[in-house]
Amino acid sequence: MSRLRSTNGESGGGASNLLAGKVAVVTGAAQGIGFAVAARFVAEGARVVLGDLDAAKVADAAAALGGDEAARGVACDVTSGDDVRRLIDSAVDAFGTVDVMVNNAGITRDATMRKMSEDQFDQVIDVHLKGVWHGTRAAAAHMRERKTGSIINLSSISGKVGLAGQTNYSAAKAGIVGLSKAAAKEVAYLGVRINCIQPGLIRTAMTEAMPERIWDQKMSEIPMGRAGEPDEIAGVATFLASDLSSYMTGTVLEVTGGRYM
Ligand SMILES: NC(=O)c1ccc[n+]([C@@H]2O[C@H](COP(=O)([O-])OP(=O)(O)OC[C@H]3O[C@@H](n4cnc5c(N)ncnc54)[C@H](O)[C@@H]3O)[C@@H](O)[C@H]2O)c1
Repeated sequence: MSRLRSTNGESGGGASNLLAGKVAVVTGAAQGIGFAVAARFVAEGARVVLGDLDAAKVADAAAALGGDEAARGVACDVTSGDDVRRLIDSAVDAFGTVDVMVNNAGITRDATMRKMSEDQFDQVIDVHLKGVWHGTRAAAAHMRERKTGSIINLSSISGKVGLAGQTNYSAAKAGIVGLSKAAAKEVAYLGVRINCIQPGLIRTAMTEAMPERIWDQKMSEIPMGRAGEPDEIAGVATFLASDLSSYMTGTVLEVTGGRYM
């Protein structure tokens, strides 16, 4: 099915205040899955700090979610440990604490191994793997003091099966699973939970940039016969952020329409 046709994606249902009183930080939240997660969290009663590279764009995204009372935008490059610590600090300054951290920021630099430059490999590892390490580390440092918290790391089905043209991305996304499980073991006794989401093909700027031929080939692999919508990742993130998942840590939830089950 062409990406331009309606996919009949479900919105995941209405809000029910699952995150009332909670404060969340979401990286890469100016658009795509990160923005959908931030929007869903606000709809569920959370206050959210959105981090992204472009200060003006992330401020606009926060404004669209209700402005200062509900959401703040902060410029943050997740490859910088200082930036990520400042992002967490700004949530504490604005809203008093951090209960939920979503490490979502991402890029792709796809190429076959033969054509991929070392720089393309390093960039993807830096943003995804090191970025998630910075975010997990900084959030856990805060949460361990309060003996509560949920950290959600965006992996990808590419990290489960390995996708041709993505040796950098598949390595980073598989690494995020190992990182998350190791970190989950370090902080479980302190009440901090860390889980991963592995999305399949989700309709965002990242995937809209794919050639039509690649998109159609991926679509043919999806038992549910359609791409996912960002809000369908946001629904799972809301579950992991909320007390509904209070006995879950170190897990990896696949949200793929059945692809590579
Ligand atoms: N779209 C999919 O099909 C899909 C599938 C599997 C996994 N994912 C993962 O979900 C996450 C979100 O992807 P998306 O599809 O919404 O992508 P997107 O390109 O729409 O959004 C990514 C956001 O991350 C931001 N970002 C990039 N580098 C950053 C950095 N160094 N610091 C801070 N922010 C940075 C970008 O500015 C952008 O706003 C990524 O981790 C991606 O790998 C997406």
